[in-house]
Amino acid sequence: MINKIHTLGGYFHEYQKSYSNPEDFWEQQAECLYWRKRWDKVIDWNFEEPRINWFVGAKLNITESIFEKNLYTHGDNTAIIWEPNDADEQAISLTYRQLYVEVNKFANALKSLGVKKGDRVALYMPMVPELAIALLACARIGAIHSVIFAGFSAQSLADRINDAGAKVVLVSDGGYRGSKITPLKEIADEAIEQCPVVESVVVLKRTKCDIQMVGGRDIWWHDIIDGQDEYCPAEEMDAEDPLFILYTSGSTGKPKGILHTIGGYMVYTAYTFRNVFQYSRGDVYFCTADIGWITGHSYIVYGPLLNGAQTLMFEGIPTWPDAGRFWDIVDKHQVNQFYTAPTAIRSLLSLGNEYLAGKRLDSLKVLGTVGEPINEDAWHWYHDHVGKNRCPIVDTWWQTETGGVLISPLAGITPTKPSFATLPLPGVFPVIVDNEGKELKGNSVEGNLCIKFPWPGMARTIWGDHDRFRDTYFTSFKNYYFTGDGVRRDEDGYYRILGRVDDVINVSGHRLGTAEIENAINEHPLVNESAVVGYPHAIKGQGIYAFVVCPILSTGGEEGIRKSIKEGVSKIIGPIARPDLVQLVPGLPKTRSGKIMRRILRKIAEGDATNLGDISTLLDEDIVGKIIDSALVDV
Ligand code: WT7
Repeated sequence: MINKIHTLGGYFHEYQKSYSNPEDFWEQQAECLYWRKRWDKVIDWNFEEPRINWFVGAKLNITESIFEKNLYTHGDNTAIIWEPNDADEQAISLTYRQLYVEVNKFANALKSLGVKKGDRVALYMPMVPELAIALLACARIGAIHSVIFAGFSAQSLADRINDAGAKVVLVSDGGYRGSKITPLKEIADEAIEQCPVVESVVVLKRTKCDIQMVGGRDIWWHDIIDGQDEYCPAEEMDAEDPLFILYTSGSTGKPKGILHTIGGYMVYTAYTFRNVFQYSRGDVYFCTADIGWITGHSYIVYGPLLNGAQTLMFEGIPTWPDAGRFWDIVDKHQVNQFYTAPTAIRSLLSLGNEYLAGKRLDSLKVLGTVGEPINEDAWHWYHDHVGKNRCPIVDTWWQTETGGVLISPLAGITPTKPSFATLPLPGVFPVIVDNEGKELKGNSVEGNLCIKFPWPGMARTIWGDHDRFRDTYFTSFKNYYFTGDGVRRDEDGYYRILGRVDDVINVSGHRLGTAEIENAINEHPLVNESAVVGYPHAIKGQGIYAFVVCPILSTGGEEGIRKSIKEGVSKIIGPIARPDLVQLVPGLPKTRSGKIMRRILRKIAEGDATNLGDISTLLDEDIVGKIIDSALVDV
């Protein structure tokens, strides 16, 4: 059983213990899980290379800590509750023992396709139990899974499959999203045309939509598991062998494959899940994220299952058939812990309180948020109307790269403040530095958020590009991991995350690089160049504002061109990257050396032209006025 903190005093005690001796602290947490061979050393690290090794020399298989360790004690407890897109379809629940059998069978199926330890398997699937089963099956045989969110385009999917070198792709015919069906297999077919490494495609039947099966490459899921043995021996893995690759956007270049390894990730997700949510045996826990993102990996699949928890997977969307769907699910399955994103809260809030009418919501004990800063209005609505003033809110700050939550209240233990992620978890040592890298000590300071000591769940590298890993996270501030976020530590020592300080924007909790969107816009035949910035958006948190230089207007005029630019981005990256606003401009504000001054564009997009700072270094100062005059927001 994972150690659990029960009181605020207990938290401070554990924090102090972890600070004075992190090795002993993490060793104690690791001992709660199952290892085939114990570690020789808890940690071996250096942030300069960087080299990050946890539980050195230890051997394990993460699925043995989920299953073998616990089957005798809670094999008949529910592991996964699955709520389908359409509430009229039967929900499914799988016990640990049933899940174990499914995982073993699918592991054997993967083996039959020649998948071995270290091979990469790409998944492009809706939120169905088979997705979780497939992740665990990969882990069982030591294959590295790479889930690609099922909202990405064929091009994005192809780029990721190729970068990872995945030889097997798992997909479904289609995916339900409210009243719509996304043709996942069709998109995957288009992608795989560009992926010579792919040998096999396993296709789950879900929506029964029409698809083409490619001979010699495609095989049905139900056929491949048919007759497979119900036991598959777990592959013995090193603590530092890879568990998965997950792509995320950076401020420059193409998305990066963040690599997490087995031992540390296991310990970290297990520990943080139990403590942040204060999970107790028998509770029903519901995280609304998609498994295509890190939140789903760590807090739908691994963290909960390592704790023997009941984790609810939801296939649909919050607003279909109406904006009361989450609350119906909470009542139907008697959910105790509910974890969602601020963007979902803002969107439900904006649709009105009538969707809460008649919902009991009395099973709820803990509410959580993740993905972006939560504004006070949304926090209060969540607290008062969903939690009925009874449920603590855990505002959990973390990142794809951190593997698990780093700064967050412990539910019901840490006193909360709206919009504050509050305090670091034990074993997490944040520092705030100014732009010169000087540490800002004490309280009431604001600057760049860094972490000065490794934690077990942190990423180990970027797949295939360790130099980029070092350059992105470890060179801005010497000997620190740099998060890319700005932060304030208030007079009580509480942390408030202020948002990204780099060229990454956060749209509805989805992370996008402005450069990535610009590249997609620039592929438009009539576009010369573009600059993308985020701007405040009432529901999405940030919206996408594109300034585009496009000297020749085609037929269809300005309106037509804006539309085709938006559609182009949607096609190239995926609908989540579709710009909200496209302003056609005669030029971009550039310095004499040709660098775009995004600071100015950000200000304009925020609707504030009062304080543009020094613009005397601009090549053409007049351009700023012209952009302001035709801005798409009130400036
Ligand atoms: C970025 C990471 C962690 C899973 C989902 C997002 C922002 C995340 C919070 C929060 C304020 C937050 C940060 C971070 N972020 N959680 N509680 N308060 N901002 O993972 O896609 O890797 O994005 O999301 O800016 O750097 P991600």
